[in-house]
Amino acid sequence: MGVNINQFTEMKRRGEKFTMLTAYDCTTAKLVDEAGIPLILVGDSLGMVLLGYDSTIPVTMAEMLHHTRAVTRGARQALVVGDMPFMTYYTTEAAMANAARFIQEGGAQAVKLEGGVSMAEKVSAVVACGIPVMGHIGLTPQAVNQLGGYRVQGKTIEAARALLVDALALQEAGAFAVVLEMVPAPLAALITRKLTIATIGIGAGPDCDGQVQVINDILGSFTEFVPRHAKQYANLAQVTREAIAAYQREVSGGEFTTAAHSAELDADVIAALEKD
Ligand code: KIV
Repeated sequence: MGVNINQFTEMKRRGEKFTMLTAYDCTTAKLVDEAGIPLILVGDSLGMVLLGYDSTIPVTMAEMLHHTRAVTRGARQALVVGDMPFMTYYTTEAAMANAARFIQEGGAQAVKLEGGVSMAEKVSAVVACGIPVMGHIGLTPQAVNQLGGYRVQGKTIEAARALLVDALALQEAGAFAVVLEMVPAPLAALITRKLTIATIGIGAGPDCDGQVQVINDILGSFTEFVPRHAKQYANLAQVTREAIAAYQREVSGGEFTTAAHSAELDADVIAALEKD
């Protein structure tokens, strides 16, 4: 039996920090899972880091399910969370039907959706179907056009209070955890103290119960740009560039390929063909 949703509330109670990381394919999910990361998010960030969209808004259910299936084939222990794309949970019926697809067709164990008070009714309906829900408030990228850009949220008393109310509404609706994205650290700390469910921060300071990162950001495999909320632990973009250049150079220079990378054939076979 792998990780289950209750473990995150227990870890919060014990003061144990935990990690969530995105993955979009089977091979990466296997590596993340083997590293002992307990939560894998098939984020709709997929659209930006893998599919070349300039926001998460164009991502479809078909794309998310395709990648969720790949991830669940690779994850053995980690709990896999499918990120519900833009406008796939705009009515309670749509939220239930599309959340069910993540579980039934994608093999995920939970779903995540963006929004607080306005989503509470949908969250309780999905939870009532037996599908665990992770909330997501603060900077909600699907609402980037309404928010006017990717900026820190909750900086005024009214905005900060609204985020606290959102977080409490999600907890009340039955969410098992809530992502706080680009929320000032002291506010994220206060929300974390007020909730009994776990908070998972991204650009929300060190006091959240867990942290989440987009895997391409920490591996440096997306672009050289490192968002302020991320830390680059490797530079795979550079390693990849160097490997591609070396391959190109060796093929042009006749160094690759060699006998070591090719199959041999009995000389008689060629001799016979030469006579044909
Ligand atoms: O889509 C995603 O990767 C996310 C995380 C940044 C939380 O929603």
